[in-house]
Amino acid sequence: MRGIAAAVGGRQVWSDVSLDVEPGQFVAVLGPNGAGKSTLLKAILGLTPITAGTVEVLGGRAGRRNAGIGYLPQRRAFDASVRIRGLDIVRLGLDGARWGIPVPLLSRSIAPQRYAAARQRLREVIELVGASAYAHRPIGQCSGGEQQRLLIAQALVRRPRLLLLDEPLDSLDVPSQAGISALIRDICRQEKVAVMMVAHDVNPILPYLDRLLYLARGTALSGPPEEVITGEKLSALYGIRIEVLRDSTGRLVVVGQPDIAAGHAPTEPDAGPPR
Ligand SMILES: Nc1ncnc2c1ncn2[C@@H]1O[C@H](COP(=O)(O)OP(=O)(O)OP(=O)(O)O)[C@@H](O)[C@H]1O
Ligand SMILES: [Mg+2]
Repeated sequence: MRGIAAAVGGRQVWSDVSLDVEPGQFVAVLGPNGAGKSTLLKAILGLTPITAGTVEVLGGRAGRRNAGIGYLPQRRAFDASVRIRGLDIVRLGLDGARWGIPVPLLSRSIAPQRYAAARQRLREVIELVGASAYAHRPIGQCSGGEQQRLLIAQALVRRPRLLLLDEPLDSLDVPSQAGISALIRDICRQEKVAVMMVAHDVNPILPYLDRLLYLARGTALSGPPEEVITGEKLSALYGIRIEVLRDSTGRLVVVGQPDIAAGHAPTEPDAGPPR
């Protein structure tokens, strides 16, 4: 991306966003509600047109190479009454149908070799995300974190070269956020896939990231963690005082991010002390 801008509903959401993402890199997209994080993923998919700059995705214009992209849209959890098995949710990723009627791709009517390869790949991604123990259960009976793992497997099953994950950590506890981030980092390395993940709280995921892209107040800040995670830069971006501390093990900790104090609800000015 080189100096790109996007407008939604006639209003400019952000401008001057530039970023390079290499194969095998894990990039987080951060920023408060409404900053345009989902819009950025949609711009990469060619679903939201850019109004300035240039974007090249997998060697083509945005929208042209979407077969090489795995996309997990921002969503809520499955209701407990959903009976479809986790395995079948993952399988939907193989035929590209997300919420349509499942095509019987794995029925034996297809060529035996394709059938075997598809089954093998299903098993492989389910193992990769650590979901083997519950993949045969109805997804409505899986926990939020288990559901997220199955959805990541769905986005991965067609061996994408780029994986776009919109808040896969939403509603997970802090250890699960770190656990899924570690998993995604391993997938980046093993499958040589580039990952862009939208998230709210940088702290649990920071040790796993190669790059960050912050969106706030219509502008962007991007780079490797050591460059971007400074009190000075984050305070200037958000327009409020943000501190960056180092714990006894040398890990960076961001204190005062306005967008995480109230979880996913819009933050009130008097919503209490920042975490
Ligand atoms: N279809 C639409 N029509 C008009 N405005 C829209 C539309 N979709 C999004 N917007 C606006 O564009 C801005 C960016 O939205 P976007 O969904 O990209 O934010 P976000 O950073 O993903 O927020 P969140 O953290 O809440 O998911 C918001 O102000 C939103 O209200
Ligand atoms: Mg969003």
